[in-house]
Amino acid sequence: MRNPWKHIKRASALGAVALAAFSLTPGSASAAPTGPEPSPSVVGGTRAAQGEFPFMVRLSMGCGGALYTQDIVLTAAHCVDGSGADTSITATAGVVDLQDPDAIEVKSTEVLQAPGYNGTGKDWALIKLAEPIDQPTLKIADTTDYNEGDFTIAGWGADAEGGDQQRYLLKATVPFVDDATCKAAYDELVADEELCAGKVDEGGVDTCQGDSGGPMFRKDDSGQWIQVGIVSWGEGCARPGKPGVYTEVSTFAEDIKAAATQLDG
Ligand code: ARG
Repeated sequence: MRNPWKHIKRASALGAVALAAFSLTPGSASAAPTGPEPSPSVVGGTRAAQGEFPFMVRLSMGCGGALYTQDIVLTAAHCVDGSGADTSITATAGVVDLQDPDAIEVKSTEVLQAPGYNGTGKDWALIKLAEPIDQPTLKIADTTDYNEGDFTIAGWGADAEGGDQQRYLLKATVPFVDDATCKAAYDELVADEELCAGKVDEGGVDTCQGDSGGPMFRKDDSGQWIQVGIVSWGEGCARPGKPGVYTEVSTFAEDIKAAATQLDG
């Protein structure tokens, strides 16, 4: 399995601590909030309600994902280990609480990593499931029209740099960050393939380790959720001046559609 953290661009002592604290299995997630009140996670997020984001998937290697179809999960390329037959991944869906007895758990059969993925840009992959999950899917943006405004992020990842993976799904809202601002923060940004979001001035809200592969989404003009990003990388989490970097879904929409067709064939 790929280390889902490879996209942290600066190795640091903090990175080593974070690695030690990272738990890869949903079952070992801890730090469960005890009530519905705001609790810090994603980073700076609050608990999602059961059924609020029914397309959200937790993947057993410690990543997030979204149901692209009922039996294909869209996630990050850096969450998977190349393309081909793969029965090693378990997708958990239908619940906000990963320990809910009603959780739907389905194994993978095949993985398709973005063609040409080499660790920079193109951070998307599809995972084919052994059987469909009976939950609503999340449509993907196939134009740049929605690459602006406020976005919703959600995941079971760390609630702080080096923090624990979460038992309950957390959500937050982050504003779009334009390419010029993001490029100033990250020289290595691939502006055509990546989309940035976060509170650049104050920080405090972001995705973090273990959220990778999960969707960043907003409402479209008809009021439906639409996916504009895939959690990819950032320097630390929620730092001022360091927005989160997301795969720009609209750039790859045609490739993703073609890949899904190929997985179904
Ligand atoms: N690469 C991380 C993962 O594997 C996601 C990091 C997101 N970081 C951020 N600051 N938005 O889970």
